[in-house]
Amino acid sequence: MKRSAISVILFFLGCSSSLPIPTASDLLEHSNNGDVVTVEELKEDRSLYIAKCSGCHGLYLPSQYSGKEWQTILPMMNEKSRLSETEAIRIKRYIFLYSMH
Ligand code: HEC
Repeated sequence: MKRSAISVILFFLGCSSSLPIPTASDLLEHSNNGDVVTVEELKEDRSLYIAKCSGCHGLYLPSQYSGKEWQTILPMMNEKSRLSETEAIRIKRYIFLYSMH
């Protein structure tokens, strides 16, 4: 394989691995909001984000925008992705966990 092909592959691996994977310590943040959720559910939220939001452009990192910015962006993107209300809530839950504060 050519060196350029290898660096392209490494680039993509680097991107998806920088999308944070929820852990038990993230639960604390959620219990503070009075929302009861499991690590498994948070991981499903992440998978949903990957599945629904990577069709048209690369995935943005939650930490690229503040919660306030996501509040404006998400309603527009939810419409583009034709998300159900539940999917929209779950993707928002994942993004807000790691958004810029
Ligand atoms: C049907 C195509 C499509 C899908 C699906 C889609 N997007 Fe987008 N997204 C766009 C386009 C086009 C732009 C750039 C132009 C714009 O802002 O409308 C964009 C821009 C963005 C931006 C940059 C906004 C800014 O102002 O800097 C973010 C963040 C984003 N999308 C997140 C998401 C998320 C989260 C989802 C899943 C809920 C999603 N996108 C799904 C088409 C899509």
